[in-house]
Amino acid sequence: MSTAPISGTDVHGDRELRDRLGGIMALAHVNTFHPNAFVWPQAVTPENLEYLSVVAYGDPGHEREAIAYVVKELAQLAEIERHVSATMALILSEMPLHPGLGELSEGYELHHALSCFAAEELHHANTFFRYVREISGFEPRLPDSRFGERLSVFQQDDHPWVKLIALCASAYVGESVITVFERRTDRLDPDRRYFVTRLLHLHGLDEARHIKVDHIVMRELYSRLSTEQRARTRELLTAIETLNSRLADDFTTLIGKLTGVDIAEVPAYRMQMAITRSFAERLFDDDGNPRTADELLNDELRQLIHDFSGAEHVHTPRRGDLPAPRTDI
Ligand SMILES: [Fe+2]
Ligand SMILES: [Fe+2]
Repeated sequence: MSTAPISGTDVHGDRELRDRLGGIMALAHVNTFHPNAFVWPQAVTPENLEYLSVVAYGDPGHEREAIAYVVKELAQLAEIERHVSATMALILSEMPLHPGLGELSEGYELHHALSCFAAEELHHANTFFRYVREISGFEPRLPDSRFGERLSVFQQDDHPWVKLIALCASAYVGESVITVFERRTDRLDPDRRYFVTRLLHLHGLDEARHIKVDHIVMRELYSRLSTEQRARTRELLTAIETLNSRLADDFTTLIGKLTGVDIAEVPAYRMQMAITRSFAERLFDDDGNPRTADELLNDELRQLIHDFSGAEHVHTPRRGDLPAPRTDI
């Protein structure tokens, strides 16, 4: 069994990781939101629905299609967030069954970080579900969301770190894609006048912490796994990604039936799919090690993201060059 660390990665000690997790969550009670705090009637004003058309198509006039697209994506995201929340609670509950997890699992920091993550995802699911009901006027709920099947992927006898890495890696792709959408809405609406801009901005306050936790999990915990455990992590990741993509197909069919809109024709959807596919395909480097959404960018993907969101990065801006200070003033 190999326990070699990821090449090029600094592997940190348990105490340092606990401190980092504690630091990430230090202001989780401040930089967050509650669904009660939104002014819900604003979500459905004509200006706000028109803005959805601008986000999805680039101009007004496609409100019906844009609403159908947003409903499909956010109802589906709510289901996935609820599953992430439940699976994190499951992993936390199973950790005491695995003695030898080391100092990282002791104390409150990891428990607190994963508990905050899980609680926030359940709140997001609650918020997004309310939002899609408001803007659609119907109940975009599947008769069977495959929840049991999705949970069962993580109910086998795997090491807690294997489960946690697979779960975080699967969530990470979606969290990175919605970050790109948050940047697009921020760019189109810098004063955050529109409901969906505020919604994505506030969601992003929590997501910024989730991303940092994902990075620690995907780098530091992955580096501790044996070769067999790494292979198993990839198996679990493939299994949950397969089920999540079936869920996406189910939502496309459901929303197509309820609205008569072919989601595949919506420009933002096509862009979203292109970015999602590239993130998922490039998440692991040629040596099989996970990398961040910014590390995996190539020129083509960076250009695609720039054209869509105005930013050339996903989570971490690249260090830029500047000329020397002027001396003629
Ligand atoms: Fe979320
Ligand atoms: Fe998240």
